[in-house]
Amino acid sequence: MANLYKDKILILDFGSQYTQLIARRVREIGVFSELAPFDVDFDYIREFCPKGIILSGGPDTVTKNDSARVDTKIFDLGIPILGICYGMQTMSVQLGGDAKSASKHEYGFASVDIVFAASKLLGKLNNKNQNKSLDVWMSHGIEVSKVPDGFEIVASSENCTIAAIENSEKNFFGLQFHPEVTHTIRGKEILERFIEICDCKREWTVKNIVSNIISDLRAKLSGKKVLLGLSGGVDSSVVAALLHKAVGEQLTCIFVDNGLLRLNEGDQVMRTFAKNMGVRVIRANAQEKFYSALSKESDPEIKRKIIGRCFIEVFDEEAKKLKDINFLAQGTIYPDVIESAASKTGKAKVIKSHHNVGGLPEDLNFKLVEPLRDLFKDEVRNIGLELEIPHEMLFRHPFPGPGLGVRILGQIKEEYADILRIADHIFMEELYKANLYNEVNQAFAVFLPIKSVGVTGDERRYDFVISLRAVETIDFMTARWARLPYDFLDKVSSRIINEVSRVSRVVYDISGKPPATIEWE
Ligand code: XMP
Repeated sequence: MANLYKDKILILDFGSQYTQLIARRVREIGVFSELAPFDVDFDYIREFCPKGIILSGGPDTVTKNDSARVDTKIFDLGIPILGICYGMQTMSVQLGGDAKSASKHEYGFASVDIVFAASKLLGKLNNKNQNKSLDVWMSHGIEVSKVPDGFEIVASSENCTIAAIENSEKNFFGLQFHPEVTHTIRGKEILERFIEICDCKREWTVKNIVSNIISDLRAKLSGKKVLLGLSGGVDSSVVAALLHKAVGEQLTCIFVDNGLLRLNEGDQVMRTFAKNMGVRVIRANAQEKFYSALSKESDPEIKRKIIGRCFIEVFDEEAKKLKDINFLAQGTIYPDVIESAASKTGKAKVIKSHHNVGGLPEDLNFKLVEPLRDLFKDEVRNIGLELEIPHEMLFRHPFPGPGLGVRILGQIKEEYADILRIADHIFMEELYKANLYNEVNQAFAVFLPIKSVGVTGDERRYDFVISLRAVETIDFMTARWARLPYDFLDKVSSRIINEVSRVSRVVYDISGKPPATIEWE
């Protein structure tokens, strides 16, 4: 079997918003890569045994005395090192060069010329690129002003004379621009060339990852029983499919229907996993319990807590009925691991506040198994495709743990959930039909428990309001309301008012985040 973790790249993180993207790009090329804080212990780096190191960009100012530095011992490891943006600047300064405030700041597209055609890193790009210039994505206010001994300047732009440097003997490279972002047109080729210089075998492929995880799971769970809380979301669905393939009958899933799911969602989960794949899934129909616990509450945070608590109670009750369970599987993915590590050390610049529900208490008496711990979301989706989970389930917009509970404003009633489910379904159906579903990053309907007057035919109506929300976002921390075409909105609105009784008016939410949040509660 392929050894996925033998040839790997370590990325030392100086806090750039693109650091995770570097790791994803390296993996797309077929080589495992992991992130560590820039000041991680040198022993960790040595034990990790990377075949190359990438120093990320970051918000620090390299000319300040107390700015972030790497342990200089990395420069004696004898492996290739690539510094990107801040990473290039600190490498230059730490190896005896210098940096200064750029006379012209550069943010956005720039054209760089390869000035040293024999460049080990960039030279091969010349073959296809007769004019020797590259369109790249720059983002910097500081630039290298003096290269360290042994380095050459290999590329320049109009506003940045030292846009790329290298010491080809030691295999140290610096790029002032970002090869990891797609705006840098040939960025992937540059990273591929770096990986080639690192002499890494490209073993990190979906097929290899799946067979590796499956054999690990078989070894770990030999003869043992494992329990999984299946939500129908991407991560738990992929864990279910992997475990089923690895240990079949030893897996039991619990799917809690809390009455706050999208239209037919519970049935789809049962069809996909229980019926089609033959996974043992216990469906806990706990709608009544949730509705009754929520019946008197209208505060969003209290509703979240109630939904979280009820989930644990139902899960616990079902789990207790099962005998001899040894392991609990969870769909933790790599960004969760990075975030929780960063929040422990306090080094994270951005920590997403995850008011997550659906989490389980830590005192459950099981050992944990987390087969996706090393993987990014896009890798998880690709594994899902490999395991034949329906495309629609894998590429669905994110759905919050409390589900429709935070999309029915205020008090929750079953009647409201039923209205919202149908309105939301119509919105999604039309988005798919118009090929707009993938143009937005999250879209949903919200139920407003206020009544408004309308007229249908000759009849006066006095019914509820549905708001449509659709946003474009990269990280869900900020978002822009999607400029959906008027004709499209018109169609969705008429369908909802005509097809959903008790709705007399549809509005479209045009609030950005900030100041509004994506969800209404
Ligand atoms: P907001 O509303 O905070 O949402 O702008 C950002 C992203 O997080 C999701 N979200 C949640 N996810 N439990 C979750 O698992 C929650 O309580 C929750 N609240 C918001 C939201 O759908 C969006 O993708």
